[in-house]
Amino acid sequence: MHQREAKSDLASSGGARGGQLALDAAQASATPTIAATARIVARLKDLPGPLLPVLHEVQHELGCIPAEAVQTIAEALNLSRAEVHGVITFYPHFRSEPAARHTIEVCRAESCQAMGADQLAAHARAQLGCDFHASTADGNFTLEPVYCLGLCAQSPAVMIDGQPHARVTPAKLDRLLARTLETTP
Ligand code: FES
Repeated sequence: MHQREAKSDLASSGGARGGQLALDAAQASATPTIAATARIVARLKDLPGPLLPVLHEVQHELGCIPAEAVQTIAEALNLSRAEVHGVITFYPHFRSEPAARHTIEVCRAESCQAMGADQLAAHARAQLGCDFHASTADGNFTLEPVYCLGLCAQSPAVMIDGQPHARVTPAKLDRLLARTLETTP
């Protein structure tokens, strides 16, 4: 079976097999992370294919998917930690550490690549002093790749804190970063 299909099957399994005892114990946990994760799993575990909805909701609520949340999710959905970790690492959207104050997503898909996204990505890495999937030392920016923002006709495209920007040159990116810090430091 292809790796992507295998991950997809894994992401759609687990809810029907229970894990209620683990969930009850987690909900009574003293740590806010585990308690919040257990609440989310309890709410979503009966969905068909609960793992991905749970991961999305945990990241939405906690800002990332911490290691202790992985343990709780695995036990409650009767999966191994390695299986949950495998799905988290397979999808670039999921993060194990909290993002910085601002998130910069540079499109790396085909149309943007043809219009200079590689140079733009190199410029972003140099300016921020960090690679993709990492944050600047001052905690201001997290740099992430994204694969098509629906702005292919106006490539290359960038998303900053959920706001799309088209035809982004290195100079325009510098202005956008400066403006981001000015308006929401
Ligand atoms: S390929 Fe970059 S926006 Fe579509």
